[in-house]
Amino acid sequence: MNNIFDSHAHYTDSAFDNDRHPLLASLPKAGVCGIINCGTDIKDSKESVLLSHKYDFMYAAAGIHPHEASKTKNCYLAQLSELLADKKVVAIGEIGLDYHYDFSPREVQKRLFDEQLRLAKKFSLPVIIHNRKAHADTLEILKEHKPAGVLHCFSGSVEVLKEVLDLNMYIGLGGAVTFKNAKKVLAVAFAVPLDRLLIETDCPYMAPEPHRGERCNSSLIPFTAAKIAEIKNISVDEVLSVTARNAQRLFLQERYI
Ligand code: NI
Repeated sequence: MNNIFDSHAHYTDSAFDNDRHPLLASLPKAGVCGIINCGTDIKDSKESVLLSHKYDFMYAAAGIHPHEASKTKNCYLAQLSELLADKKVVAIGEIGLDYHYDFSPREVQKRLFDEQLRLAKKFSLPVIIHNRKAHADTLEILKEHKPAGVLHCFSGSVEVLKEVLDLNMYIGLGGAVTFKNAKKVLAVAFAVPLDRLLIETDCPYMAPEPHRGERCNSSLIPFTAAKIAEIKNISVDEVLSVTARNAQRLFLQERYI
């Protein structure tokens, strides 16, 4: 069965420098049918686009992560626009707010988030949102722009989930659902309608149990899917098939299906 669609990965990360190509080439045999490789700054987004050209099943997202916001030059919007013209670029991401680490001043994070959401609208592209400990501001900005997209590695409460669903956005869940203290995210996994759910790794990070702490890759997604299947009382195969269809609908539309 070829129905693993990893909606959020970072295969440009140096953790994959020693075996990136053999690993990626092995993934279809492990059941992987799609990967969205997300950019974190201009250089990483460019590398992500180049990598996506080497694999039919890989697509790229280009964007500036909130961690990189303060290091970003003023010309970044023009540079991003150039990348967005590439046919393998299917989203803007990852973009958003991170008030846990606060690596960039919050005002700068918010400005870049706002500017990239405007760019997404201009190019009619979905967005991949990173939100850590910034639920109120993230929701406020999303309500203003109403983009198509996903809140990746969703860490909000069921109340925040409801507001996101009202915006017709998707929820991305990954390895965290398998972790021992995952009470809040399990409540979200139970409450999220199947047609709004995407599955992801965020690799090389967030490997699901029993591989927690190891380098993650897309072939480990069935462990995450098994936990969601248990919570929703459906089969693993259904979780994988439906989340793959959702990702194809959001990111690929009729362009590639
Ligand atoms: Ni990420």
